[in-house]
Amino acid sequence: MKPDTRLIDSGREQKWTQGGVNPVLQRASTVVFDSVKDMKHATAKRAGDTLFYGRRGTTTTFALSQAMTELEGGAGCALYPCGTAAITSALLSFLKQGDHLLMVDTAYEPTRAFCDNMLKNLGIETTYYDPLIGSDIKTLIQPNTKVLFLESPGSNTMEIQDVPTLSKIAHQHDITVILDNTWGSGLLFKPFDYGVDISVQAATKYIVGHSDAMLGTATANEKHWPTLRENSYLLGQCAAPDDCYMALRGIRTLSVRMKQHQDSALKVAHWLKEQAIVKTVFHPAFEECPGHEFYKRDFSGSNGLFSFVVNCDDEAKIVAMLDSMQHFKMGFSWGGFESLILPVNGLDRLRTAKPWTESNRLIRVHIGLEDVDDLISDLAQGLAKLA
Ligand SMILES: Cc1ncc(COP(=O)(O)O)c(C=O)c1O
Repeated sequence: MKPDTRLIDSGREQKWTQGGVNPVLQRASTVVFDSVKDMKHATAKRAGDTLFYGRRGTTTTFALSQAMTELEGGAGCALYPCGTAAITSALLSFLKQGDHLLMVDTAYEPTRAFCDNMLKNLGIETTYYDPLIGSDIKTLIQPNTKVLFLESPGSNTMEIQDVPTLSKIAHQHDITVILDNTWGSGLLFKPFDYGVDISVQAATKYIVGHSDAMLGTATANEKHWPTLRENSYLLGQCAAPDDCYMALRGIRTLSVRMKQHQDSALKVAHWLKEQAIVKTVFHPAFEECPGHEFYKRDFSGSNGLFSFVVNCDDEAKIVAMLDSMQHFKMGFSWGGFESLILPVNGLDRLRTAKPWTESNRLIRVHIGLEDVDDLISDLAQGLAKLA
């Protein structure tokens, strides 16, 4: 089955849809049994897709787990109330007191804060590494290193990692590889083809795709799935069937949305590159994006999210630009149908393995599904405020 067909087909077995086109929305805490025999059967099968108790899932959540597993690959997918819960649960599932974690320096800010606060308090030590470290990662491995965490491209600064090389070295030392694959979405990057053990997504972004629900997913390979599933369950992690329904609806149009995000974002990025006020455009498809060669090798395309540095350090002018935008709204997420813009602050504090030396301003944009000419006009009038 080709990928686009799979997106339409996945999670739509008769047992989930009951004859409709879409899986039915089943809300439940309690599941009731007609007999002790049925209850015993459900108890024995509770780790799979058999109804047992709401926290283990309902038919709607089982359908989404199945669809995500088909999208990303792997042996199974655990669901969480948001992407951050997926990240923290995946880390907690494979780390214990006294362990060492290798965390990419360009991780999503709350991922970093979780390491610096909660994991530290639990006696788990974190070393941040340069996203482009490649095979030199071996110099940072300690006898107690248990997890290597990747995020590719990196948050805001968009560095692409050499995932197969990093995974190979990690596995030589029996280290579990976890990837934040939110940008790759399972469509643009196939984590299990490149040696990843657990692929985490903020499904809040492109999977839901409409900025109206929070959701996290963690898909694992055969070896890691039982531990991830059971530890996530013990942490009390589960996702609301209503939100899973939204994700199932979103996933059907993921590919067509992504093509449009990609085309428009590339047009905007090329236009930005030609503006004198723009210093650098960090778009994975551009050569000047660090790790671009790995993007070319491993990704099947790009999406709507990238960033650029402007030749302007004047706070007041940047505020005037951001306040003047019409189609680009300011907001902290991405992956929905709408365009967004965000000034990125604090990179000097958030990068320690490879300090951020760029004195000028980084702006992150998400290119939505509006007409691209309207978006370029909006940016043109905004950038004029920086002159
Ligand atoms: C790369 C990345 N990972 C994880 C998250 C966290 O997702 P959520 O907001 O659903 O907790 C985000 C959110 O912005 C993100 O950008």
